[in-house]
Amino acid sequence: MILKPIRKAVFPVAGLGTRFLPATKAIPKEMLPIVDSPLIQYAVNEAREAGIEQMIFVTGRGKSAIEDHFDIAYELERTMSERGKDLSVLEPTRLGAGNCAYVRQQEPLGLGHAIWCARDIVGDEPFAIFLPDEFMHGSPGCMKQMVDAYHRLGGNIISVLEVPHDKVSSYGVIAPGSSEGAVTEVLGLVEKPKAEDAPSNLIISGRYILQPEVMHVLKGQEKGAGGEIQLTDAMAQMIGKQPFHAVTFDGKRYDCGSKVGYIEANLAIALERPDMADEVRAIALDLLA
Ligand code: G1P
Repeated sequence: MILKPIRKAVFPVAGLGTRFLPATKAIPKEMLPIVDSPLIQYAVNEAREAGIEQMIFVTGRGKSAIEDHFDIAYELERTMSERGKDLSVLEPTRLGAGNCAYVRQQEPLGLGHAIWCARDIVGDEPFAIFLPDEFMHGSPGCMKQMVDAYHRLGGNIISVLEVPHDKVSSYGVIAPGSSEGAVTEVLGLVEKPKAEDAPSNLIISGRYILQPEVMHVLKGQEKGAGGEIQLTDAMAQMIGKQPFHAVTFDGKRYDCGSKVGYIEANLAIALERPDMADEVRAIALDLLA
């Protein structure tokens, strides 16, 4: 099978981040750090590991810190050089000329609408989507695992994971078909169903590889759950016309859209870091004693 490679990733980052107020009044929620890197950086690292070259950010008003983060900071770098500081810490923030694009979603009309705002930059090729508050931690990363599956299966691939049945109504949920290893066929998709109507407890966990036709579907997509234009509803219409599979991520997911998930991620990553793990473990044990 000759497949077009996945070269572009869309990061919808226009959300207001009201759950983290007042922290997110003046800074984007995607810039909240897990230890010392902002959430958006982890998502971009995951994209690069999967071979993706071009990052497309769908931003909104008040999100310019994200653009600055992926730009060169001349004053900072000059001052650090003069003081003999190691600049390699900034390496992951360099995206290279022409490798990042920003487009604004002017109104908060939903995730589907945010993705549609990137249609001209995505063009006629398959592309990835990352929801940065879903922090997927593992090696290889979630998108690399999905790209590997894409090379075998083609079509559309989403990442899924199991949640307790009473939690499904916060997510997009799949109707699963047959499974082989980590790959499950997707027979249906529903956004934020009531627990009793949900076709499974396998939820969409914020990573997608989609064919460009989804943009045509999104163009005519009516409002769905929550009065928003939903990506899930547009994807549902592609099932049956193109291959559609889910990959269960072999790794750990932290829901950094919630405060508790965010704290969990910080603690977990700190406990993995050789420069601080021992100290953090001792502090945590002390706090719990
Ligand atoms: C979005 C998607 C949903 C997905 C979720 C993952 O919902 O619409 O299908 O399961 O992200 O976090 P949101 O969290 O924006 O309401």
